Amino acid sequence: MVAKTKIQYVCTQCGAVYAKQVGKCFSCGSFNTVIEEKVVKGAKAQVSLRDQQSTVTPILEVDSLKIARIKAPGQELNRILGGGLVPGSVILLGGEPGIGKSTLLLQTALRSNNTILYVSGEESLNQIKIRADRIGIDNENCLLLNETCVEEVIKQFKQYKPQWVIIDSIQTMYSQYLDATPGTVAQIRESSSLLIQYAKQNDVPIILVGHITKEGQLAGPKVLEHMVDTVLQFEGETQNAYRILRSFKNRFGSAQELGIYEMTASGMREVSNPSEILISQRSENLSGIAVVASLEGNRPLLIETQALVSNAVYGNPQRNTNGYELKRLNMLLAVLEKRGSYQLGMMDVFVNIAGGLKTADTAADLGIAASIISSLLNKPLPSKMAFAGEIGLSGEVRPVPRIELRIKEAQKLGFKHFMLSDQNDIQIETKKIEIIRIENITEAFSKLFS
Ligand code: TYD
Ligand code: MG
Repeated sequence: MVAKTKIQYVCTQCGAVYAKQVGKCFSCGSFNTVIEEKVVKGAKAQVSLRDQQSTVTPILEVDSLKIARIKAPGQELNRILGGGLVPGSVILLGGEPGIGKSTLLLQTALRSNNTILYVSGEESLNQIKIRADRIGIDNENCLLLNETCVEEVIKQFKQYKPQWVIIDSIQTMYSQYLDATPGTVAQIRESSSLLIQYAKQNDVPIILVGHITKEGQLAGPKVLEHMVDTVLQFEGETQNAYRILRSFKNRFGSAQELGIYEMTASGMREVSNPSEILISQRSENLSGIAVVASLEGNRPLLIETQALVSNAVYGNPQRNTNGYELKRLNMLLAVLEKRGSYQLGMMDVFVNIAGGLKTADTAADLGIAASIISSLLNKPLPSKMAFAGEIGLSGEVRPVPRIELRIKEAQKLGFKHFMLSDQNDIQIETKKIEIIRIENITEAFSKLFS
């Protein structure tokens, strides 16, 4: 068949394809994201991935044993993945440049007992070796390949039959049957789909590294996130040694799981007791500091929240948050003003979660509100106290899920008091910790500051 070149227009945001140039993508609504791409028609499908024919099977005859997971070295990664790698699953690991994606994956490959093929399109074999030397482990089962053509990569899979594969990164891969440069939507989609087919048909798990754009989105089409089974994201600030690995989507486990790593001079170290590092710098007599018993995925985590409230000297009061949603802070401030009669309207308010952590747990509301009022009144909160409660629009403190887990974590770390909603039922023994039940913010603050 003679290959024919065709031009199509693809949205870089969502991957929608158009026959004509359009200014606004009809599918996702973004402006100026549709770009021209050349496609060679009729040349595709030369890559045969296997010879068998497909068959239909009743569900009862499908062998459950096949779902046995492949253990990755390191507890954190296994836990985030829901107990290990599922054969045939495809995992996308996103993160900003320099955050440590390559380090984490190379180190995982070096520590594993499985035969792992690490395909790098970004670094030469020498550069990878330098990194491996820093990590300081040798492993004959760790195979390296420096290649960016996806058809060549799959050829190597067939020859070396690795038990799992790492592709660093998907943006560097290209299919030779597509006339588009690597990194374009068409190439990312095509390369991923070939790799995903290989993974599914041969029960080999594949981890794809994905770059993140300046806006914090995974570069390439959003469809990539839909194509893979699991999306993990590596977060953190490069100045800070702590890194957070979080799952956003997981077909084989719970999403929103989180693991914490520390970047050291010789690779990533797992932090198995994150609550301790997140609150270790706590000073007892400072105002504006509260400890929240939050839940990240299935994991209880004590986090320190800090608030600073001061007179707005430059006119418009500023509101700023780090690690907590700004909209939520604005709502909290409105509730504190209206239901608690605190004059915050002309104040600058800054809220920060220690350790570069981000929380989306609404149970943080009560602790954050307490830290704001503590800073406003310049009165420190009682020491060894943890908070968990969601604040509603009428100032009521609402119950939060899995309170027992949160209390147990606080108890484990030596906390003596725990403030929560009077609506929360507690099913466990709480002898070692004082439980303070409150109905609304007025009651909370009168207990805390009078
Ligand atoms: P890297 O894994 O290359 O990041 P990514 O693949 O996400 O772009 O990490 C690069 C940074 O990590 C770099 O600034 C050097 C640092 N690093 C260490 O601190 N310790 C180490 O053992 C290694 C290998 C790298
Ligand atoms: Mg890298």
